[in-house]
Amino acid sequence: MRNTHLLCFCNLILILSFQFASNFVPTLSAPEAAIVTNIPGFNGTFPSKHYSGYVTIDETYGKKLFYYFVESERNPSKDPVVLWLNGGPGCSSFDGFVYEHGPFNFEAGKPRGSLPTLHLNPYSWSKVSSILYLDSPAGVGLSYSGNESDYITGDLKTASDSHKFLLKWFELYPEFLSNPFFISGESYAGIYVPTLAYEVATGIDAGVKPILNLKGYMVGNGVTDDTFDGNALVPFVHGMGLISNELFEAVSAECNGNYYNPTSGNCESKLSLVDREIEDLNIYDILEPCYHDTPSIISLKNSKLPLSFRRLGETERPLRVRKRMFGRAWPFRAPVKDGPVPTWPQLMNNENVPCTNDEVANAWLNNEAVRKAIHADSANIAGDWELCTDRISFNHDAGSMIKYHKNLTSRGYRAIIYSGDHDMCVPYTGSEAWTRSVGYKTVDEWRPWIVKDQVAGYTQGYENNLTFLTIKGAGHTVPEYKPQEALEFYSRFLEGRKI
Ligand SMILES: *[C@@H]1O[C@H](CO)[C@@H](O)[C@H](O)[C@H]1NC(C)=O
Ligand SMILES: *[C@@H]1O[C@H](CO)[C@@H](O)[C@H](O)[C@H]1NC(C)=O
Ligand SMILES: *[C@@H]1O[C@H](CO)[C@@H](O)[C@H](O)[C@H]1NC(C)=O
Ligand SMILES: *[C@@H]1O[C@H](CO)[C@@H](O)[C@H](O)[C@H]1NC(C)=O
Repeated sequence: MRNTHLLCFCNLILILSFQFASNFVPTLSAPEAAIVTNIPGFNGTFPSKHYSGYVTIDETYGKKLFYYFVESERNPSKDPVVLWLNGGPGCSSFDGFVYEHGPFNFEAGKPRGSLPTLHLNPYSWSKVSSILYLDSPAGVGLSYSGNESDYITGDLKTASDSHKFLLKWFELYPEFLSNPFFISGESYAGIYVPTLAYEVATGIDAGVKPILNLKGYMVGNGVTDDTFDGNALVPFVHGMGLISNELFEAVSAECNGNYYNPTSGNCESKLSLVDREIEDLNIYDILEPCYHDTPSIISLKNSKLPLSFRRLGETERPLRVRKRMFGRAWPFRAPVKDGPVPTWPQLMNNENVPCTNDEVANAWLNNEAVRKAIHADSANIAGDWELCTDRISFNHDAGSMIKYHKNLTSRGYRAIIYSGDHDMCVPYTGSEAWTRSVGYKTVDEWRPWIVKDQVAGYTQGYENNLTFLTIKGAGHTVPEYKPQEALEFYSRFLEGRKI
């Protein structure tokens, strides 16, 4: 009886509100085979629909990119669709999904390495947007190809592959074509985001179908320009109190502000003194401990410290699952230069990314039941999932990103360049300097921005909707450290509100 009523009601609405049809289309054409109905480790109801699977972007050898799409928990038919990319090159966007702003918080399984338990994340970015996590380029995360020659790539090829992916993805999910679309990412995605946004914008202008509704983009602690990024470290470590005034004065005098490309032996030797002072810090957040696989345990049981003292410095999270930091960085003062970019496993002689613990993500994404539930191919086909892989050979061939940012913002695309201000990997000092160097008029003078009556960081707004923003106390992967503040600026930016 109830069912009949419902059906009639729906039919009636479809007929009567013909002109509002777009309100009723959502999810009607998303591929049914891609829907994720349950997920090992999670015992509950999804707050919104999830879809995942592969899109083949090149048939030659079967080059397949894996995506996981989380519909907005608010209003998926109207809320923006946001593409998320982690960096590397070589790092999986499941870093964002598992550790940063995904729909779940992952609690480590017991015993160690077993399937984690998943809880809902109250600060998931899916609270206000639909979000599309993409493993890119092929060879990264769950994405792969039938021929390893497809793993030789670079900035420009990655952008054109991701563009191909987007066109095909929107063909599969046409109901999302009219939603505002944004491209976002962090770290080396400081290269992926503007190069892809430029491809998309160029495609829109050329009438490439389907027409994507690109509105803007976001970059967090992003690699941008070798000179600006390369010169950012020394002022950062001085300002943070990690080197002495004497050393700062000496290194400034010897290097003349050019730390990126030292031209004298004296400058080199002062720089190595700087390196020595900071080498034991966690590069991704100078306030966080460096995670060691077998920690030098100071037994808390016997500790006389009050509990509140023991927890000092812990990052604020709904559920603490780990102490780690990651992204993929380069050794100090070695920003990304033109040419081949070493991946972390290559840099570290196959050691893990320093100071990081990726056990939870590893345990989950290498579990065959999880793979099956999310429509990922098994390890014997797609390979083991790794947070950051050295399976790809990657060429940095797009140069500085500043020209891309100028082009995109002057064409009306909105941009936010945000920085966790305690990241030493891509320090805010570089992002602050390059955004200023674009030469746009300041329209919103440097000021604090506020969440729940507290200063959450600082911002400076430029004309053409270019915004620079810091998140106070956050490291390289901002939403991991400051989930609540991150969701706040994210929402305000997407809605075009003042932050
Ligand atoms: C889900 O969790 C509840 C509470 O922990 C438990 O009682 C229940 O058995 C679980 N259900 C399944 C299907 O695991
Ligand atoms: C893989 O790709 C290379 C380069 O295109 C090609 O020469 C080779 O034959 C391919 N191998 C297979 C097994 O298809
Ligand atoms: C952006 O780049 C496109 C393609 O190269 C060019 O046609 C256009 O004039 C540029 N726009 C601006 C504002 O620089
Ligand atoms: C900045 O963004 C707002 C909100 O989307 C828009 O109304 C405005 O036209 C943009 N300004 C420029 C200069 O592009």
